[in-house]
Amino acid sequence: MTQSGLNPKMHVLSTQDIDDTTVLNVVGNLCKVLNITLPQAADAFGDYWVNEYAPKIYASFMRRATNAKEMLLAMDNVHETVTKSVPNARPPRFDYIWENDNTLVMVYKSHRGLIDFLVGLVKGVGRYYNENLRVMKIADDRVKIYFE
Ligand code: HEM
Repeated sequence: MTQSGLNPKMHVLSTQDIDDTTVLNVVGNLCKVLNITLPQAADAFGDYWVNEYAPKIYASFMRRATNAKEMLLAMDNVHETVTKSVPNARPPRFDYIWENDNTLVMVYKSHRGLIDFLVGLVKGVGRYYNENLRVMKIADDRVKIYFE
């Protein structure tokens, strides 16, 4: 936060609109300070977000799904509905392609290009439901997920 010219004690409300450049600048500086790659930072973020933050803030959404498949398949609709009343929100949208019963490709439709964060979040969903998912980025807009 300091490297990015921000107050480390700054509080952000979930309804507040922070511009993407500011956030990505913090992420970039975090990678430099901790000497980690962007995918490593995105994995840590995804794990924290799904397993610590979301159960407190979005408990009703987490309870609605009983496994990782249900949770991931609900995400297109959840992002569309949850951001309807948020000014300036441009939520990611998802298409789902089943390659077979256990292999899903999530197509990520967003102008932000945060595919590494999608990978981290999907891994976090796997851990939340205690499932061994294999998650691979196969293109800048595609993540392949193997369910056991
Ligand atoms: C409780 C469930 C969830 C809720 C309520 C939720 C809500 C949101 C909201 C409000 C945003 C900000 C959108 C904006 O400012 O334009 C966002 C961003 C995002 N969400 Fe979720 N989310 C949830 C779970 C997930 C999960 C499980 C994934 C991945 C599988 C995911 C993937 C993303 C990504 C990649 C973004 C970044 C925005 C972008 O790339 O355009 N979310 N989400």
